[in-house]
Order: sequence, then structure tokens, then C-alpha cells
Amino acid sequence: MATTDDLLRRRAQHISPSLSVLYRDDPIHAVSARGQYIYDADGVEYLDCMNNVPHVGHSHPKVNHAIADQLARLNTNTRFLYEPLVDYAERLSALMPGDLSVCFFVNSGSEANELALRLARAHTTKKGIVALRGAYHGNTTSLVEVSPYKFEGRGGAGRPEHVQVAPTPDPYAGVHRDTDAAHAYISEVDDAFFRADASVPAGALIIEAIMGTAGQVEPPAGYLRGAYAAARAHGAVVIADEVQIGFGRIGTHFWGFEAQGAQPDIVTLGKPIGNGFPLGAVVTTPEIAESFHNGMEFFCTFGGTPVACAAGLAVLDVMEEENLRQHARDVGEHLTAGFRALADDHLAIGNVRGSGLFLGVDFVTDRGTRGPDGELARWLVMQLRRHGVLCSTDGPGDNVLKLKPPLPFTRDNADRLITLTGDLLTMRD
Ligand SMILES: Cc1ncc(COP(=O)(O)O)c(C=O)c1O
Repeated sequence: MATTDDLLRRRAQHISPSLSVLYRDDPIHAVSARGQYIYDADGVEYLDCMNNVPHVGHSHPKVNHAIADQLARLNTNTRFLYEPLVDYAERLSALMPGDLSVCFFVNSGSEANELALRLARAHTTKKGIVALRGAYHGNTTSLVEVSPYKFEGRGGAGRPEHVQVAPTPDPYAGVHRDTDAAHAYISEVDDAFFRADASVPAGALIIEAIMGTAGQVEPPAGYLRGAYAAARAHGAVVIADEVQIGFGRIGTHFWGFEAQGAQPDIVTLGKPIGNGFPLGAVVTTPEIAESFHNGMEFFCTFGGTPVACAAGLAVLDVMEEENLRQHARDVGEHLTAGFRALADDHLAIGNVRGSGLFLGVDFVTDRGTRGPDGELARWLVMQLRRHGVLCSTDGPGDNVLKLKPPLPFTRDNADRLITLTGDLLTMRD
């Protein structure tokens, strides 16, 4: 087997450095994974607290079997009639509220958002879009242009004319922190639409209900409904990006937007949807689908193949059979309580937020100013890795410890993470 040094050297020759490597000074040469654990070339086991794509667990046998079995029988495209496509579209639609009942299948979250933009433009005939500061929606040209996380970040080219940015609705460290923060952030969305009306009118508002790249930011209660209403008042539709948080991860609900009782017009899905099998989906209303149906065929070669649908169906089956949404809720509450208890002893923990197994721990230099302590968060991530626990950081100050493990993550796993974090912080105090 190749050594880690050898792999790094060969990778540097043929893979662009714009693809990052985790733990650059001590990377992980992963060779296998199961459930919530990853194993390296020396057989060392790591507790995975960062990979949300293997949603029902790394290498889940039921999902693997469904994929292999369907691949051995039939794999073709949506121009043929086959049951898995229709079965899967019915199952997904049944999980959606209201009249979100028309499904398109693609290969990734980026492709799903890309298609969502096309649907919104077809329906509203407006090219502009409103996005939130800190948001990431995908890697294509159009999506980098609607991802402030990228265009305002390192190497970014700045805000394009057709995009307006509203502030991250962060009630802890954002621009509005008082009790009426929801109202203030909704007004900011309204203002963004007015700015769009004066330049390139916006046909869509795109929102991730708990913002991952912004630092696991949970908007204040009432924000989503108010922001959606503001968009609609300007003749725009709402795209809910559920690529990270969908499929029961937030524990209380199956979809992120449901936690605030909001109903979008277009929902985009990816990452966990196929437990690692490349799959993405867009679910919308018959009305919007009809606006898009203008004579031009939509075709996605690999989107919605029998194998992709078998993967998607198996994930939904496992979610039900293993009661994973409820499990995410229970373990998430335990994890949140554990980190909040740690905050009693460690002033650097300013805020613990999120829902289910999509949580963030905000490290601050000072609880008064709530200034970010990115250095501490990054140090902690490196120390955790040395102790066999994998986590990451994000947020504008790179100071938020992100927790989004595969859903089989247990209370014992949570206790291990909490105890280890407490010990490390005490060591550093
Ligand atoms: C919220 C959100 N939307 C969309 C995407 C794009 O998904 P993909 O990388 O699968 O194309 C990502 C990826 O990280 C994401 O976090």
C-alpha cells in the first residue's frame, strides 16, 4: 500500500492544490469506513463527526446492496419507463408539505441548485437573486455567483450585479442581536429585494434554513416565514437549499424549513440523499414545473437512473427502519446539553446552537463582544484529530466547531466528544 508521504507527493503532481487536504500536517490516509467510524491505512479508528454525506452510516449494507442489486439488473435513463423512478418520486413527494410534488433528479447538490435557478427564472422571468451573507450553494459558475461565502471570500471576484446579499440572520454574533432580531433581519431581506428592483429584479430568494458555511447559524424564530413573505411580496419564489440539512438531520423535522413552519416553492436536495451515491433532486410545485415546460427538453444522463433511485429509496427505508430522525433528535439534545454544560466551565464557548445532529459550538475571545476565536477552534480540531475524533470549523471567523456526524452517532460517541473537548480546553486554559 502507498505510504501517506507517497500519496501526498503523487497527489500534488496531478490534483490541483485548489482541492484542500484535511489536517494538512497530518492528513488521514483513509482506507475504509463503517457506520460513524473511518479507518486509516494503519488500522487506526476515527470517530467521524464531520461527514454528513454517509447519512445512514458509512458503507450501510442495505444501501450498498440496493445499489449493487439494481446495477446488476438494469441501469438506463429517464427516457425509459421503470419503477424505481416513479416509486422514488412518490416517496419524496409524500415527505414534502403542500403541493411540492414534481421531482427532477440530477447528480449533485450543485446541479440541483443550478436547476432551481433555471426554474425560478422560467417562472418569474427575473434574472436576479437574493442570497444570504455566508451562504454556499454550489461549485458551478452561476452558483459561485450566488454564494457570498465564495465571492466575498478568499479568491472571490465580488458581488455580481444580478445578486443582492442580505445579512446572515445570526442572532448571536450577527449585525442584529436583540430580541427583535428576526424582524430586523426580515427587513434586510426586503431591502435587498428593493435594491434588486432598482437594478436587476430578483426572481428568487435562496436560503439554507440552518446555515452551515456561515457557522451553523440558526435564524431567530419567525425569520424564515417573514423572509419568504418578503420575497413573495416582490414577485419572487423561494428556494430552500436542503442539500446539507435535509433528510431528518435536524431531528425535530425531516426538512430544515419545517422547523419554522415555512413552505418554500422549490426544494433542492443532495449530499445525504444517496448516502454517498451521486444523486441530487429538485422538488417543486406543478405550477412552477409547468412554467419550465416550455418545449425545451430537460435531460440529465445520470439523474434518476434506476440505480440512483434504488440508492435514494434505500436511504429512505433505512431512515424509517432505524428511526434515525428521532435518534438524531435524542442524541443531538444530549450533545447540546453536554456542550452547554462545558460552557459553564469554559468562557471560550460563547454559544452552542443548531438542531439534531447539525450543531455548532461558537468559540469567542470575549463573551461580551462575541469576537471569534478561530485560533482556539482550529487548535481544538487538530487536538481532537490526534485523539481520533474528526471535526471541522467554519463561519466568517472560522471559529465555529461544526458537528454533523453520520446519523448512527450514539450517546456514547457524544459523551466521548464532550469529555475529550472538556479535557483539551482545561489543558489549554
Ligand atoms: C448548502 C449547500 N448547497 C449546495 C452544495 C453543493 O453540493 P455539491 O458539492 O454536492 O454539489 C453544498 C456543498 O457543500 C452545500 O453545503
